[in-house]
Amino acid sequence: MTITPKQLHVNLFEMACVSHIVHGMWRAPGNSRHRYGELSYWLEVARLAEEGLFDAVFLADVIGTYDRFGDGTAAALREGLQIPNLDPLMLVPAMAAVTQNLGFGVTFSTTYEPPFAFARRMATLDLLTQGRVGWNIVTSYLPSAARNFGLEDEIPHDQRYAIADEYIDVLYKLWEGSWDDDAVVNNAAAGVFTNPDAVRPINHDGRHFRVAGPHLVAPGRQRTPVLFQATGSPAGLEFAARHAEVVFIGGNTTQAVRDNIARTRERARAHGRNGDDIRFIVMAGIIADTTQELAEKKLEKYRQYYSVEGALVHAQAEIDLRRHDPDARIGDVLKREGVPFGNMGRRFHPDQTVGSALRQIASFDEGRFFVVGTPGRIADEIERWLDIDGIDGINLRQYHTFETARDFIDLVVPELQRRGRYRTAYAPGETLRERLFEPGRAHLPERHFGSRYRNPAALHAPAEPLFPTETFSKAS
Ligand SMILES: Cc1cc2nc3c(=O)[nH]c(=O)nc-3n(C[C@H](O)[C@H](O)[C@H](O)COP(=O)(O)O)c2cc1C
Repeated sequence: MTITPKQLHVNLFEMACVSHIVHGMWRAPGNSRHRYGELSYWLEVARLAEEGLFDAVFLADVIGTYDRFGDGTAAALREGLQIPNLDPLMLVPAMAAVTQNLGFGVTFSTTYEPPFAFARRMATLDLLTQGRVGWNIVTSYLPSAARNFGLEDEIPHDQRYAIADEYIDVLYKLWEGSWDDDAVVNNAAAGVFTNPDAVRPINHDGRHFRVAGPHLVAPGRQRTPVLFQATGSPAGLEFAARHAEVVFIGGNTTQAVRDNIARTRERARAHGRNGDDIRFIVMAGIIADTTQELAEKKLEKYRQYYSVEGALVHAQAEIDLRRHDPDARIGDVLKREGVPFGNMGRRFHPDQTVGSALRQIASFDEGRFFVVGTPGRIADEIERWLDIDGIDGINLRQYHTFETARDFIDLVVPELQRRGRYRTAYAPGETLRERLFEPGRAHLPERHFGSRYRNPAALHAPAEPLFPTETFSKAS
C-alpha cells in the first residue's frame, strides 16, 4: 500500500497597499509594491500565483489607520503602512479574468457594515469566478476603524464576535436558504426566467440585524464562500469552531501549534463537525536561493531595508522602544511612563528588556515558520511543518514583490513536487472548497451550522446564538 504524503496548500499573502507586514521593504530595489494601485500589478500577481499552482491569492484588509504610535497617522502614511489601501473585493474580478483556477481569499469585517450588501457582493464574486472565492472573517481590531463608521470607540472584543455570529447567520440564510438550486429556469418559451416558488425571503429579525430578503443573487457554485478566520482568543476560537473552515494558527513551538490545532478540532467536534472539517494555515516566511550562502545574503539584503519604526507602528506600540535604555525591562519603562501594558503585551513580555525586544523586531526572524536556505532545506522544514506540527498550508509572506513568489515558484515548488508534497496541476473546474477539502465538496457539508437553512423551515426557527448572554465588559 502506498501512503500519499500530505500536500502543502499555499496562498500568496497580499494586501492592496505598499507596506503590508514586512515594513520598509518597498524601498528595496526592484520591489514592485508601489504599483499596488495599477491594474497591471494585480494581473501580474494573479498570473504568477496561478503559474505557481497556488491555492489562492489571499488579500488582507483593514478599515482604519494605525495611529497609536508617535505622531498619529503620520508615521503610517510615511511608511505606506496599510495606507493608502484599496478595497480588496474590487480586485478579484480583474484577477479572475486572467486566470482559470486560482482562488481568492478576501478579508471583510463583520463589525461595521450590515450583512445584506456584503452577502450580495460576495455572492457576485462566487458566481463570476465559478466558485473560486473565500472570505477571511475579521471583526476589526483598529479603534480608528470604529470612528470611520460613526462610533466613538471600538465595540468590546467579545461583543464583536457575538455580532459576527448573528451577521454570519444572516449570510447563511441568504446564501444557503433564500434560493433553491433550480430557481433559475431561463425558459424563454414559457416567459419564466426565475421560478418564484424557488425563491423566498429570509425575514431575519435579530438582536443586531433585520433583513427581509430575498437574496439578490442566484446561487454560485459554492453558495457560501470558503470561510477563513484567524484568532487568538477564547471567543474567537468558539466562533472558528462553529463557522471557520480554514483557521490561521500560531504558536512558537511545535507543541504549542499542535495544542492549538487539537483544541480547535475538539471544539469543532463539540459543534457537531468532524475534526478534519478545518484546515490549518500559518503565515510563513521563506527565503530561498540555490545555495545556503546566497539565501543568507538575500536575507541580509532584505534586512537592510527593514523598518523598525514600521514594526512599532504596526504593533500600535505605546512607547518608542528606541528611546529607552536597552537594559531596562519593558514593564518598568511602561510603568515609569504611566502607560498600560496594552498593545505591547501582544508581542512582548514585561520582563523582556528593551534591547531584546528591539533585536526581536529587527532580526526579521518570524518564529517557528521561517526558513532561509536551499530548496532542499526549505522542503525538509516544510515537511516537518506538515507532518510534525500538523499544519495544512501557508500564507506566503512577501519580503520582496515579486522576488519572493518567483523564488518560491522556481526553486521550492519543484522540490516539493519531487517529494509528492505539492500538486503538479490544478484539477480543472474545481471550486476553492474542493481544492482545500475533496472533489465533490463544493458546498458546506451537511454537518456545518450554515447548511441548516437549506431546509426552508429553518428560516423561521431562530438559531441558538453562540454567545447567548451578551454581557461584555471593557473594550480590548
Ligand atoms: C494570518 C493572519 C491574517 C490576518 N488578517 C487580518 C486582516 O486582514 N484584517 C484584520 O482586521 N485582521 C486580520 N488578522 C487579525 C485577526 O482577524 C484577529 O483579530 C487576530 O488573529 C486576533 O484574534 P482575536 O480577534 O480572536 O483576538 C489576521 C491575523 C492573522 C494571524
